[in-house]
Amino acid sequence: MISSVNVDLKDNSYSIKIGSGFIKQLPIFLSSVLKRKKIAIVTDTNVEKLYLGSVTSALVEGGYDVISLSLKPGEISKDWLNLKIVIDWILANKLERDDFVLALGGGVIGDLVGFAASIVRRGIRCIQMPTTLLAQVDSSVGGKTGINSKFGKNLIGSFYHPKLVLIDVDLLSTQTHRELMSGFGEVVKYGLLGNYSFFEWLEVNGKKVINGDRASLVEVISTCCQMKADIVARDEKEHGDRALLNLGHTFGHSLETATEYSDRLLHGEGVSIGCCLAFDLSYKLGICSQEEPGRVRSFMKSLNMMTDIWQISGETPISDDLMDLMKQDKKVRDGRLRFIIPNNIGSTFVADGIDIDLVREVINSSSEKP
Ligand SMILES: NC(=O)c1ccc[n+]([C@@H]2O[C@H](COP(=O)([O-])OP(=O)(O)OC[C@H]3O[C@@H](n4cnc5c(N)ncnc54)[C@H](O)[C@@H]3O)[C@@H](O)[C@H]2O)c1
Ligand SMILES: [Zn+2]
Repeated sequence: MISSVNVDLKDNSYSIKIGSGFIKQLPIFLSSVLKRKKIAIVTDTNVEKLYLGSVTSALVEGGYDVISLSLKPGEISKDWLNLKIVIDWILANKLERDDFVLALGGGVIGDLVGFAASIVRRGIRCIQMPTTLLAQVDSSVGGKTGINSKFGKNLIGSFYHPKLVLIDVDLLSTQTHRELMSGFGEVVKYGLLGNYSFFEWLEVNGKKVINGDRASLVEVISTCCQMKADIVARDEKEHGDRALLNLGHTFGHSLETATEYSDRLLHGEGVSIGCCLAFDLSYKLGICSQEEPGRVRSFMKSLNMMTDIWQISGETPISDDLMDLMKQDKKVRDGRLRFIIPNNIGSTFVADGIDIDLVREVINSSSEKP
């Protein structure tokens, strides 16, 4: 059960393999891309405990020279300090441009390690082995790498493509349900932004997916990766279509920053709330029908996903603060707010110059517990 998606970017093309039981087969997968038998694994301490041993053994058995580094888990590690730690470690271990760094972890490790790989020696090769659903459907594909700044999320970074992405759905079995559901927020986003029939499929099969059915997971992840690969191949550096992948993210990022990237709100939870607010905004703009935001919310609620700001634990973020944070987001052009707005489920467009008062209304009504 291996599915393959190709990201077609001329000289930077690479393949994404999706399946199960990949750890044992690592030497076979890597033989297609590795020139030298040296590999540097960067992971976090949670993933280290679960998978570093078996990954290392498989590689050592395959004749590879393996070194590894584990960082503290969590969004907090996507910062300058950890970037420096990774880069110094790569240089101290004398890795050359033909050697490989393997990012073994969730989106935090993938983004941080991808960014480090892109700037050390002006680019050292990188393989992504994402271990969370969120990273498997989104962050490991498409080449966006980076760290956070005190001014906002992902404000420092680069476009840098891996040479290979290995997605093993077995690794998801150890994720907490909450983390898995956060990843599922990004999955639903794909249906909403550009694939109505996928959304309909999720309405029927969503439960099976989140209960860990392997075949459904491979199918879902392949669909998401194929959608992202197609968009990235058309618009690698986000001058057009690629922005659609940010559906729900302008709202979501402001909520994440307002809650200080803490476990009060996971990235995909911010995205699922953000998608609901994008539909509310679309309805207020007179674009989508009244039924659409309701259908999106009732589907998400049926799977216990977050849909509104008031559900965030602790003090509800203040709407003025959220508005300021959104103005700081990179999706601002010439001081005007840019949003991805749904036409309906499965179709979205980029809208510039959105009326700030409407955005405030949407935020206020989502902040009030009904
Ligand atoms: N580059 C992109 O295009 C892109 C796209 C979407 C999201 N992102 C970024 O991804 C990040 C979020 O990624 P994430 O949700 O994977 O977070 P994460 O990397 O922090 O992982 C979440 C938690 O799960 C643990 N974990 C990872 N794999 C596990 C496993 N298999 N079993 C048990 N625990 C496991 C981690 O240690 C961590 O505690 C954010 O920083 C976001 O900005 C980037
Ligand atoms: Zn995201």
